[in-house]
Amino acid sequence: MNRRDFIVSGSATLATLLASHDSAVFLEAQQESVSPKNALSNLPLLFGTDYYPDQTPENLWEQDAAAMAEAGITNVRIAEFAWALMEPQEGSFDFKWLERVVGILHAHQIAVILGTPSAAPPPWLTQKYPEVLMVNDHGATLSPGTRRFTCPTNATYRRLSLAIATAMAHTFAATPGVIGWQIDNEFTLGESARCYCRFCREGFQHWLRAKYQSLDALNQAWGTVFWSNTYTDFSQIPVPLPSGAPPNPGMALDYDRYQSAANVSFLEEQLAMLRQLCPAHFITTNNVGLVDTIDMRELYRDLDFASSDNYPGFFAIHSGSESGASAPPEVIAMTVAYSHDFMRSVKDGQPFLIMEEQSGKAGQPIFSPQPEPGQLRLWSYQAVAHGAMGINYFRWDTANFGAEEYWHGMLRHDRSHSPGFDEMQRTIRELKSLGHDALHAGYEADLALCFDPNSSWALAIQPGHPKLKYFSETLSWYGAMGASHAGVDVVDATPDLSRYKVVCAPAMYLVAQKQADRIRAFVQGGGTFIAGFRLGVKDEHSRIVETPLPGLLRDVMGVELIDYQPIYSEKQGVKFAGSLAGADAECKIWADILDPKDKDVEVLATYTGGQYAGKAAITSHRFGKGKAIYLGPHLEGAELARVLLTLIASSGVARSIQAPPGIEVTSRRTNQQTWTYLLNHTAKEQSVNVDGRYTDVLDHSAISGSIRIEPYGVRVLVRA
Ligand code: GLA
Ligand code: ZN
Repeated sequence: MNRRDFIVSGSATLATLLASHDSAVFLEAQQESVSPKNALSNLPLLFGTDYYPDQTPENLWEQDAAAMAEAGITNVRIAEFAWALMEPQEGSFDFKWLERVVGILHAHQIAVILGTPSAAPPPWLTQKYPEVLMVNDHGATLSPGTRRFTCPTNATYRRLSLAIATAMAHTFAATPGVIGWQIDNEFTLGESARCYCRFCREGFQHWLRAKYQSLDALNQAWGTVFWSNTYTDFSQIPVPLPSGAPPNPGMALDYDRYQSAANVSFLEEQLAMLRQLCPAHFITTNNVGLVDTIDMRELYRDLDFASSDNYPGFFAIHSGSESGASAPPEVIAMTVAYSHDFMRSVKDGQPFLIMEEQSGKAGQPIFSPQPEPGQLRLWSYQAVAHGAMGINYFRWDTANFGAEEYWHGMLRHDRSHSPGFDEMQRTIRELKSLGHDALHAGYEADLALCFDPNSSWALAIQPGHPKLKYFSETLSWYGAMGASHAGVDVVDATPDLSRYKVVCAPAMYLVAQKQADRIRAFVQGGGTFIAGFRLGVKDEHSRIVETPLPGLLRDVMGVELIDYQPIYSEKQGVKFAGSLAGADAECKIWADILDPKDKDVEVLATYTGGQYAGKAAITSHRFGKGKAIYLGPHLEGAELARVLLTLIASSGVARSIQAPPGIEVTSRRTNQQTWTYLLNHTAKEQSVNVDGRYTDVLDHSAISGSIRIEPYGVRVLVRA
């Protein structure tokens, strides 16, 4: 009997079994997958709100449900933070209140997504079982009293989390109105992204035993002979807590992988139980896109679809420069677009749900301004334009108490309509009118951006330059690629890449054999691969490759590195040539110095000044039917955009709609129809030129030639 069948056949047994030994849960190497069950095509339209009846007097539930129905709301998400009410003391469950509110909502044709409450266990639990508390990367035990303060490995916490979720599933499996589940809440968003407690240490050692099978293999992989750390027993292996010096990179990287796997298996336990007890319900979990503390592709592997939380205003106030001024809306729009493309890509392009969409001023303890009129509608369309199939506005009312009093909802603190209420109501109506096909259409992307948590983790452990951050490097490349309006998927270079014209890989520090093979096949097949500096330095164990750089991709890139240079004060200039001819540029924080090794290599830029003056900086190598381009210098902003857009255009990527900066263009397609979204992220009217004749499905107007889009305006075009 394998683990899944064991879990499915005896989830209750599991609960008791786990009770019998209070220690770490040991993760088997690769759990049996519990494959997605519920086809997206059967999903109802999902345009709703996040509702907190657990925080709302019962005598308001009826009026809330009536008001939601009148606003066109189709569903709510509830109960993800209601553990204390559902289990006031260990083992005694009270779902009566929840059954009543589900009944009221159902009477108003409002469907219910139930949240399992493991993100915030009640005080009785942490008082009785303090060992469930997380230990942060300084060895400090987190205090209870908020949320996301628990250890993903601890058996007691997993047993009690599974027990309440199982009790909920038994109660609501056949309840009219309940359509699906959200497991836990934002796995990635605690103050401490990882736990370093004794249970995690035991779990890690067990996970390593399953991964490496022998101590020799582990000692070899990590190079533990360095500083005499050769392990003679797995129980000697520590977790990367503060020590006398920086950690062994192989150990630290494996620990990030272990913590990701621990969270994934935590989710999978609840998932297996829900699949068994609620086969008709869809199952997902919500996260903010663009975080790497968990391998999202692993986390969402067996879920029906991905769910994302989207707060552009929050990005704005946290993306500001030292001066505190927030970044302009079109820059925020690009970051948000990246997070949507990221979340769409974790399930290979499947439509995703916005489980939480900003609906007013957002933030705690500092909060963003009220979005400008039109922005809430625009942000909702942006999500749909990038592949979302539905939107839940966070939250119905605005809390009058608790840590999130300033995360403003659809209703104000006095429960009157918030400034954006009418706009959200209009948006819900319009988006519903797009219809199921449009909302479930595939996303058109000619480009792919590589985002691999392994490179992010390995680079965070050894950045080489204090300003070298994997995420921001991928964000600036995404920004440049996005300006091509050619659509960008986010991949980790392990799947087949042949559907793309151009694949970009900034700071791809760690290259696994499988990734190198996929990239080689892609270029040989005619694709254009554009890599940034620090390419292929590390192998899967975060050892530095023993060959000249870029290691496994030397043949594809047609160059070897003479040297790699972090740049601090001294200047390193770049002179462009050939198809990249243009104004000279200056490297920011890094320069890879290239040595062409093949006659099919064209040098598109050289370094000026310094010890490497005259050396190749950017090269293009004809390889098979395709080409591989190495960007050795660290470029940013307009210089990076000019280089990438020139290379993308010369790779046969063209769009029939030319749009000025601040306008976003995306397309979604079925075999029958293509919907093109034009989004104006700026506060001023803009004009866009379109080839051919279209109809705007929102106002049914005929569209051709130059069209105007009002500030924060939206157009959804279909070919006439
Ligand atoms: C997140 C969480 C919600 C709430 C909102 C607003 O996305 O999932 O519970 O905290 O943000 O903060
Ligand atoms: Zn732990």
